[in-house]
Amino acid sequence: MESQRPTIVVHGGAGEWKPDRQNLGILGVKRAAKAGFDVLRRSGTALDAVEAAVMMMEDDSTFNAGLGSSLNLEKSVEMEASIMDGETLKAGATALLTNIRNPIHLARIIMEKTDHIFIAGKSAQRLGEIFNLEKANPVTKLRERHWLDLKNKIRQGTSGYLPKLSNLMKSYPEFMNADTVGAIAIDQLGNVAAATSTGGLTFKIPGRIGDSPLIGCGNYADNKIGACSATGIGEIAMKLVLAKSACCLIHKGYSPQEAAEILIKRVNQAIQNTPNQMGLIAIDKKGRIGAAHNSHHLCWSYMTPLMKSPKASLTAKIVKSG
Ligand code: GLY
Repeated sequence: MESQRPTIVVHGGAGEWKPDRQNLGILGVKRAAKAGFDVLRRSGTALDAVEAAVMMMEDDSTFNAGLGSSLNLEKSVEMEASIMDGETLKAGATALLTNIRNPIHLARIIMEKTDHIFIAGKSAQRLGEIFNLEKANPVTKLRERHWLDLKNKIRQGTSGYLPKLSNLMKSYPEFMNADTVGAIAIDQLGNVAAATSTGGLTFKIPGRIGDSPLIGCGNYADNKIGACSATGIGEIAMKLVLAKSACCLIHKGYSPQEAAEILIKRVNQAIQNTPNQMGLIAIDKKGRIGAAHNSHHLCWSYMTPLMKSPKASLTAKIVKSG
């Protein structure tokens, strides 16, 4: 793809997008790409753009981030997010949030207002209060219905208790989608940034933290290379440190598209006999973009200066096993 700046790429998650949700997903990622691109067009920074795009998706209950986040084993929400500035390599991350409306905004506050990178749980919630962040109940009726449906199915199954997560995912893949949201961008000055936010896996054990807030696993940005946001099963992204690995491949000379495809192939080789649904979006310092996945769908969108409106799709390059 031609190199252009400014450019933004967003994803609303890998997984299986059921027909009744597909239009909502496409509309949602387009809205997010447009919100981010509007920031870039006004000479805003890549950091402002990815934050704006992810906030748009956190406020959209179509996606598993912010409002509409997945419910954990105890039927409550624990959200997580991270943001990274490629110009300075500064990053902020947060997890185990129960009622902060925009986790990505708290991640940015942690990056800018503290000496730390990752603050989780009660202290993170407290920080949100100190900085007057808006609170909102992220639990939606739809997620509650999914949760109850899944619970009933488990009850009717062979085990009295939860089988391992992988077995659960084999039996009920439609409920295990990790519809993380993410955005990567390059601004007019050539600065890149990445932001990723999620409610995590449905039925996760409380306290479980995935890849989205882990710098290098779900999110990475470096002006000298580019940026990447991952979606899918967090444990897989953590094992293969996917976001940083994508940046390393770009650094070696691969295009963002090649880097994303190589890594999804690597996922297919390394992770066998457990279901995995992964997706990656990447951008390099020239503004070239890439997207690949091994899941049924990757709901994603992008916008460049030559486009009047964002393009969106439910698939990118699908990388199959074997
Ligand atoms: N990628 C989101 C998660 O596994 O939590």
